Amino acid sequence: MPPSLRLRKPLQRAVRLGHPWIYRDALVPPKHAPPPGTVVDLLDERGAFIARGFFDADGPIAIRILTREDEPVGPALLAARAASAAGLRAAILARLDTDAVRLLHGEGDLLPGLVLDAYAGVGVVRFDGHGARAFYRPHVETIADALRGFPLGPIHLRGEETLRGPLPDEIVIREGAARYEVDVVRGQKTGFFLDQRENRALVAMHAAGASVLNLFGYTGGFSIAAALAGAHDTTTVDSARPALAAARRNLRRNRLDEGHRLVAADVRELLATARRTWDLVVCDPPSFAPSAKALPAALAAYRELNRAAASVVAPGGLLATASCSSHVTPAAFQAIVAEALALAGISGRILAVRGAGPDHPVPPAFPEGRYLKFLLVATST
Ligand SMILES: C[S@@+](CC[C@H](N)C(=O)[O-])C[C@H]1O[C@@H](n2cnc3c(N)ncnc32)[C@H](O)[C@@H]1O
Repeated sequence: MPPSLRLRKPLQRAVRLGHPWIYRDALVPPKHAPPPGTVVDLLDERGAFIARGFFDADGPIAIRILTREDEPVGPALLAARAASAAGLRAAILARLDTDAVRLLHGEGDLLPGLVLDAYAGVGVVRFDGHGARAFYRPHVETIADALRGFPLGPIHLRGEETLRGPLPDEIVIREGAARYEVDVVRGQKTGFFLDQRENRALVAMHAAGASVLNLFGYTGGFSIAAALAGAHDTTTVDSARPALAAARRNLRRNRLDEGHRLVAADVRELLATARRTWDLVVCDPPSFAPSAKALPAALAAYRELNRAAASVVAPGGLLATASCSSHVTPAAFQAIVAEALALAGISGRILAVRGAGPDHPVPPAFPEGRYLKFLLVATST
């Protein structure tokens, strides 16, 4: 029998609906906390079993729920979850022209705390916290082998080793007509922002003939998608020089030799001193709200950033703006963008409300899982 932990808050309903997290302050503090990754039973306030998951000793989330049944949570269950995730991806990929996909999206694939991205046959794994690492690490290869239809060569564990290595010298993925190199070892997150795939396509749809400013451009994803769709020129801004060096190689790889600038700068400083406007401005900053406590300051920062970004949109142009903070709700983000436009003295209309693509599934009872918000706003002349 796994050790058990008892709820002190009435969360049975949320758990029954499929919310996968139990915060530490919702539990009766255990006398002896189990080591990270230990399988634990969650009991209600009266001591009845409600779910089984694994424990984490640090961070606000104490338990990630794996099942609400009294069943073993070993390799067979994990392989079944991975097989189901692969089935979902096969259906999605049938209508996408790419070899880069998120195969396991943690909570959305009922494997909370585990991400596995595939880049042209190379797997990259990220564990969300020590508990997830300790729980999943012994089963990574079992899980990968269960991803039927998605054979993986090397599997790189971020910050650690590469299983079934070595990694190829260069990993280049395909997304429609675009080719992007992905640095799975030193790149951000797992190397590439797969969650913006559909939004790159949306930006591309509006890019023909446009001058494009790509703020927080990383390795040039939005710029290259826009340029291949006929953008007149692009300016990619990021403070990370290695990302811009990769963007330069990506431009060349896609034969985009002229009209594309790369600027190593702090976005806020660039916007403060910009003396021109662009037809299409993309704004995809890092998360400003790492915790719920940081939310008020983060909302103010998003407001100011979007005000400044809107101010460099040419009259009648487009602002494509994103927030990847799970603490900012879609409604809060839309309100912030409305305030930012008002502060800039611009009126706008939302043309599209988007998020991450379908390889980033989210349980309906888990609004925190909809971390990526993306609005396409037309400004009025
Ligand atoms: C969410 S990622 C952008 C992903 C990118 N839009 C894509 O689709 O590939 C945020 C980027 O912002 C950059 N960054 C963070 N703070 C910055 C700042 N103050 N000025 C410029 N770039 C910054 C990071 O280096 C990172 O590449």
